[in-house]
Amino acid sequence: RTYDDPQIFSHRTVLVRSDLNVPMDEGTITDRGRILASAGTIKSLAEAGARVIVMSHLGRPKGAPDPQFSLHPLAPELAEAIGRDVVFAADTVGDEATTKAAALGDGEVLLLENLRFNSGETSKDDGERGAFAKQLAALADDFVSDGFGVVHRKQASVYDIADLLPHYAGSLVRAEVEVSDRLLNSPQAPFTVVLGGSKVSDKLGVIDNLIDRADNLLIGGGMVFTFLAALGHDIGSSLVEKDRIGDVKGYLKRAEGGGANIVLPTDIVMAASFAADAENWVRPVAELESTQAGAQGLGLDIGPESAKAYAEVIADSTTVFWNGPMGVFEFPAFAAGTKAVAEALTNKQDTDSSRLTVVGGGDSAAAVRTLGFSDDEFGHISTGGGASLEYLEGKTLPGLEALA
Ligand code: 3PG
Repeated sequence: RTYDDPQIFSHRTVLVRSDLNVPMDEGTITDRGRILASAGTIKSLAEAGARVIVMSHLGRPKGAPDPQFSLHPLAPELAEAIGRDVVFAADTVGDEATTKAAALGDGEVLLLENLRFNSGETSKDDGERGAFAKQLAALADDFVSDGFGVVHRKQASVYDIADLLPHYAGSLVRAEVEVSDRLLNSPQAPFTVVLGGSKVSDKLGVIDNLIDRADNLLIGGGMVFTFLAALGHDIGSSLVEKDRIGDVKGYLKRAEGGGANIVLPTDIVMAASFAADAENWVRPVAELESTQAGAQGLGLDIGPESAKAYAEVIADSTTVFWNGPMGVFEFPAFAAGTKAVAEALTNKQDTDSSRLTVVGGGDSAAAVRTLGFSDDEFGHISTGGGASLEYLEGKTLPGLEALA
């Protein structure tokens, strides 16, 4: 269920499930993307005169209060993003939250403490989850589901609560679903999928579901080495998932039989060790085994020739979905591949309206921002990590199912 006019929530108390799970480094937020993306719905509800209660998780606390995962530092950030005050409650369904929720006036916003401080949120037990959902539901008149990043979780504030209140998809969830649907069901050719990150096992479902829909599948990141191992290359001490080599061989075969054109790097930036200042050198893939005397090294980025080739394929594509960095972009010496891909995605963004470029996943979104790109240089930066991958795998997501 959706709403076209937020005025329907005027004078009503609305629980909004956002995904404010932002990366933190010693109490400091390192990427505000999810706060900014969540702000639109919260702001429009408050402007329409709703009494808004925002709820979210942060990190993975173990079902009990844990100060390092408090949402308290996010309250001023959210206030800045929505341009109005945000009251904070240091619990979710206790006295403080209940009192502050009841005291909300039209247009006021309350942020609850981390939902996962209550074991009912993530419980596998339907009864325990249901009981927590019931306590949350008692705070409000309506439920707006807007945490796209968490819709793949069957959790109290995402799934169970929809049974208990009139429920609606928020504008962020709607926008994310629309873009993901375009990728899955009506991508304009050429459609290129760029996958990186360290583990191929995280991407098997997406490869499986997109290999027959995409024209090109560009592979980068640590997962390259499982592909190279499947092709019989010597990969030195690079990361490999031996138990996935069989799956990868299957995909290479499907690609040959008419699936997407799977493109692997032709050169690799090798390093003597996993460190920012490690000695490094470029090796053609065909010569990986004959790296520096004695030390075989490990691959930490796609090489310059590959980066150029990937950028060309991306520039010539009308639809591009990218998930996962091409290398260890956190170390400047190994960031060039990821940078080249990001740059190619931003290409023609202003001049070609048929072009859709989507950056999916928390890591990739953080990568482009770390590398100095701004969100509006891309068609869409998804707030979903696991959620967008599972959507593109074709899975039914509990948080979306609950809204049907
Ligand atoms: C994410 O970061 O992908 C979402 O916030 C979900 O978090 P989770 O994987 O801890 O459920």
